[in-house]
Amino acid sequence: MINDIAKVLLTREQLKEKTKELGKIISQDYKGKKLMVICVLKGGVMFTTDLIREITLPVELDFMAISSYGAATSTSGVVRILKDLETDVEGKDILIVEDIIDSGLTLKYLKELLISRGPKSVKICTILNKPARRQENVHVDYIGFDIPDEFVVGYGLDYAEKYRNLPFVGILKPEIYMNKN
Ligand code: IMP
Ligand code: MG
Repeated sequence: MINDIAKVLLTREQLKEKTKELGKIISQDYKGKKLMVICVLKGGVMFTTDLIREITLPVELDFMAISSYGAATSTSGVVRILKDLETDVEGKDILIVEDIIDSGLTLKYLKELLISRGPKSVKICTILNKPARRQENVHVDYIGFDIPDEFVVGYGLDYAEKYRNLPFVGILKPEIYMNKN
């Protein structure tokens, strides 16, 4: 697996430190609120489980699975719900937790869908942000790291369902995905 990585972009230590920082800010911002964290599967799972352990308030946790890609490395613009929430969001303060925001299409769709269900508020937190590729002007409330326009894997992020369990974020060697889009 490690031989497919061109460069480590963010180490486990950098990810840990940033997650701690974000957890602290979120704990302050949501004091007295009904915080419900929605983990966007599958990519958001590592970051979500690290982040909620840094939040010092009660947290309700639920999961949603949506998909905007097949095995390609750029978005198709088509968003599908693969798994919906099990709990009601009405009246709650929702924090969507994502692995990466790229075009913004997935998040724009998800945010609008959740707003239509009547929560008190909806905010977005992502560990990685690729501002260069944004197509939709979706506001991101909490960002871990702005990263360059490279295809990255690890810490939950995959290429064709592989590399999610790498403990760091690395740039995938282009020859791994070249000619497969
Ligand atoms: P968006 O709709 O283009 O913002 O796509 C967001 C989703 O695309 C993320 O949740 C990831 O699943 C996937 N994605 C975007 N960029 C990367 C990347 O560099 N590596 C792995 N997955 C990515
Ligand atoms: Mg994702």
